[in-house]
Amino acid sequence: MLNFFKNQSVNLRIFRRVSTMVFPKILLTRTMPPETQKLIENAQDIELIHWKDGSIPRDQLLKLVPGVSGILCMITEKIDSEVLDVAGPNLKVVSTNSVGYDHVDLNELRKRKILFGYTPNVLTDATAELTALLVLAAARRMREGICAVENGEWKKWSPVWLLGTQLTNKTVGIVGLGRIGAATAHRLKPFLGANGKIIYTANSDKQAATELGATRVKFDMLIREADVICICCSLNNQTREMFDYDVFKVMKKNVILVNTARGPIIQQDDLIRALSEGLLGSVGLDVTTPEPLDPDHPLLKFSNVTVIPHLGSATLETRTTMGNLAVENVLAGVRGQPLPSPLEL
Ligand code: DGY
Repeated sequence: MLNFFKNQSVNLRIFRRVSTMVFPKILLTRTMPPETQKLIENAQDIELIHWKDGSIPRDQLLKLVPGVSGILCMITEKIDSEVLDVAGPNLKVVSTNSVGYDHVDLNELRKRKILFGYTPNVLTDATAELTALLVLAAARRMREGICAVENGEWKKWSPVWLLGTQLTNKTVGIVGLGRIGAATAHRLKPFLGANGKIIYTANSDKQAATELGATRVKFDMLIREADVICICCSLNNQTREMFDYDVFKVMKKNVILVNTARGPIIQQDDLIRALSEGLLGSVGLDVTTPEPLDPDHPLLKFSNVTVIPHLGSATLETRTTMGNLAVENVLAGVRGQPLPSPLEL
């Protein structure tokens, strides 16, 4: 069976099979890493609608989704009742290329009996590694050091210039000791030395805590006691804007705060106010509100804030594994097979 390839526009490719059979349609909203892209393009029993350039605009999503059996989406697409209504009754499966699913209306999927696949586990290491990187970068004033070199402010070695802090003997507070939180704690633990501590918040005691020697505490206690706070929880009604001015006020004055989860867990205007008032030591953000952040955004004016562009899972290995899993989820869904990585709704 031959593929034929139709270039509908610069942004869109539709792969149709030369056959009298009608194949289920899958909408892929972005270009994936090469191995993943091949995997989906080589599937012989589907018609692939591929939005290939950048993030798909909402109006294009709504235009392309009618009649599809599967959607392979990214965190940048809101999958809500409007999309599901427009997609219509053929839709069997939504597969997100992410572990987070705050962009998907799960209640609507459940009501319509649409399967949902996501990519947990496979991005834990990459995201934990990046969280540890931001902690160390914030603690050792990495951004200021790089800027100083690039701006010609690097003079002769000085015993008092750009002094950061080290993690030895510090208390690390992990907000959400799930997969990524626990993997982050494991990476940071060796830096803490014999007298360092790990505390965490979670809805229940976590098994990972035993190995880590970590103690579950109330959120109020964590924000008061921790020298380093890593936000590793998912975004939901409970966690949205849980870090606001009242929280910043009670944190340690030199606290290092790192968020690699979702931007809206932090009330960002309150964060800016707290930074202006010198309430925080150093901040590392892989996620913000909105994304992307405007280059003139006030948050970027603080030299003790390091912002990177949502790179938690951004390694070739991880993005390929995630992508392959997301493809396997969507293919299984349209084929009427169990998803390899479902979220039970
Ligand atoms: C996720 O998977 O939820 C990340 O934010 C993107 O990799």
